[in-house]
Amino acid sequence: MYLCCLFLFLVTLTAVALADPTPVPAGWTLHRRALPDTNLLVRISLVQSNLHNLDAYLLDVADPQSPNYGQHWTLAKVLDTFRPRQDSVEVVTSWLAEELGLDSHSLGLSLSGDVINLNTTAAEAERIFDTEYNVYRWNDDGSERIGCHEGHNFPPHVSDHVAFVWPTLMHGERRLAARDHTLPSSNYKGPRAVALNDSSSFQGLERCDEAVTLECLRALYCFDYMPLAPHKNTVGVAEFGMNVYRPQDLDKFFRKFAPSRLGQRPKFFSIAGGHLNQSDTSNADLDEASLDLQLMMGLLGHEQEVLLYQTDTTIFDPLIGKVASLPSVARAWDASYCSALGVADQDLTDCGDVPRANVLSISYAAAPDIQNPIFAPVFQRECQELGKPDMVQLSLLGSTFVASSGDVGVAWRTLDGSSMQCLVNGSLGPDSSGAFVGAFPASCPYVTAVGGTQIRSGKSVYDVETAASKDGFFSGGGFSNTFPRPSFQQAVVTNYLERFAPPYGPDVFNRSGRAFPDVSANGGPIRVVVDGDFTAVEGTSASAPIFASLIAAINDHRIAAGKGPVGWLNPALYSSRFARSFNDVTTGSNPGCGTQGFPAAPGWDPVTGLGTPNFERLLENFLSLP
Ligand SMILES: *[C@@H]1O[C@H](CO)[C@@H](O)[C@H](O)[C@H]1NC(C)=O
Ligand SMILES: *[C@@H]1O[C@H](CO)[C@@H](O)[C@H](O)[C@H]1NC(C)=O
Ligand SMILES: *[C@@H]1O[C@H](CO)[C@@H](O)[C@H](O)[C@H]1NC(C)=O
Ligand SMILES: *[C@@H]1O[C@H](CO)[C@@H](O)[C@H](O)[C@H]1NC(C)=O
Ligand SMILES: *[C@@H]1O[C@H](CO)[C@@H](O)[C@H](O)[C@H]1NC(C)=O
Repeated sequence: MYLCCLFLFLVTLTAVALADPTPVPAGWTLHRRALPDTNLLVRISLVQSNLHNLDAYLLDVADPQSPNYGQHWTLAKVLDTFRPRQDSVEVVTSWLAEELGLDSHSLGLSLSGDVINLNTTAAEAERIFDTEYNVYRWNDDGSERIGCHEGHNFPPHVSDHVAFVWPTLMHGERRLAARDHTLPSSNYKGPRAVALNDSSSFQGLERCDEAVTLECLRALYCFDYMPLAPHKNTVGVAEFGMNVYRPQDLDKFFRKFAPSRLGQRPKFFSIAGGHLNQSDTSNADLDEASLDLQLMMGLLGHEQEVLLYQTDTTIFDPLIGKVASLPSVARAWDASYCSALGVADQDLTDCGDVPRANVLSISYAAAPDIQNPIFAPVFQRECQELGKPDMVQLSLLGSTFVASSGDVGVAWRTLDGSSMQCLVNGSLGPDSSGAFVGAFPASCPYVTAVGGTQIRSGKSVYDVETAASKDGFFSGGGFSNTFPRPSFQQAVVTNYLERFAPPYGPDVFNRSGRAFPDVSANGGPIRVVVDGDFTAVEGTSASAPIFASLIAAINDHRIAAGKGPVGWLNPALYSSRFARSFNDVTTGSNPGCGTQGFPAAPGWDPVTGLGTPNFERLLENFLSLP
């Protein structure tokens, strides 16, 4: 019976595969079939319990109307609530041990009870999952990963219990920072680094429309702040791969714009072997970390330590089954991800012993937000439906994830930065036409996505900004192809769709998707020091750390008042209580994919979200909550 079903299943799959072979995900090249005796640590992620209640649990602590607002969960409660059912463990284990005859010693259940680990070989994994394992090359750096881009197959009685299997194929994070030399495309001129000099005329609020300083940002967002409980509060930034800062750049910046910070450094945590290769790093890899750290350290007073989670994206992280990335950071915060098998690995020394940040700023894109059969389950696992606890459960514990919404409007920029893409017949293709593509993790509803704004030429910090448009930088925004729209967004998004949205058809964007960005903040040109020189960079890479800094300050005030950090922000930001906490941005748009994209408009819009923050009002509102 079971063999028969499996056979039928296979025939169907083969037929589909012939007509429409699963493409190797963008950014990767299939190199060769994996050698049969290659050792492989396979993780079978089980379906977790109570996931259908996840939104309800989260809203219970994050909706300002809830009597339990701010009462984040303990880790033990999170683990108990989402632990897979015992019969899932039993069904999958007995399938492996009894039906497939695997040695039960090669199976291990993770401590959190949601993953069955299998220490096996490529040949045996191919037999188990009826698939092919291959070696792929990541186009960005030529490094090789083992994976299986066509997916894994299960008999019907097992598949209901399995969320998905690692390793599959997934790349690491890519920065969104402005860089001129990676933007060769003729129809797109990307965010630029503009050379400036150390002229003191950039002090004051006179020329904020030309280059934005910390002083400009404080005035723009009413951010006049002195930390009250800096030793109890935490705020961090994630940097990936070779994107590192240089100490001398921080000092040059601080000497000019934040003298009390002079000599200070972020508190460094290595994730999956991440290191600060400061002297050997090429100049091109300095701008993201320089921008993030100079903004966050500069905006928050010198008493507030900023945590730096530096992640090596060339290292394959066996615990999450892919190259180290955002989940590696979250896992390092949480010992529950350290599984019984594989902890001996040298890359896992940071497992669970890295302090959690109340706010994490992420100026990186991990992947296009598309209904790709390989990616979609990964997003869901990392975000919502399949309940990878990385973001969601940590949100229950009170962390806020703030991410850049992207710099190329409604299009997607390839991971190597060389070109734009849009969706053509469901696959990524040329950007001259096709459906809009967002970026993950900004598309995840549990992340606060920050779009980009700019001060119009000749205008001052007291004028409302416009959606980013200088130098071909357009705020990323639109509607998720993967995540449905959460209820708290419904009213404002419907208002936009009914009154302001261009008449694009359903083949251009998905009207029922999660809408983003949630908010926006200045995207430059921001005055920073990179590689020894004052320069100015543009992008939502600036918007995210700016907004994250404001939220860190709000947490500081709340902690000083005996309250908890704000955690997942979005339900509160969209509530009527916060209606006047933003400067509504109503001009500009985010073109791409051969269209004008979406226009900004009164109220929420898919270019600038709810608007730019008014810190004083945000603070007042968050302080009035329990
Ligand atoms: C610095 O900027 C000022 C004002 O734009 C300009 O007059 C001066 O020549 C610049 N100096 C250098 C060294 O580029
Ligand atoms: C720093 O980067 C260079 C260039 O990529 C590399 O050769 C070197 O091994 C790196 N150093 C460390 C300590 O990783
Ligand atoms: C997996 O099995 C191989 C071969 O038996 C062994 O060398 C390796 O240490 C095991 N790995 C883990 C993480 O247990
Ligand atoms: C998309 O699919 C349609 C219908 O199958 C086909 O006519 C069209 O050529 C395809 N477009 C591209 C760019 O592949
Ligand atoms: C549109 O989004 C919804 C909600 O995320 C999803 O269920 C549906 O499959 C999407 N439609 C298409 C055509 O992608």
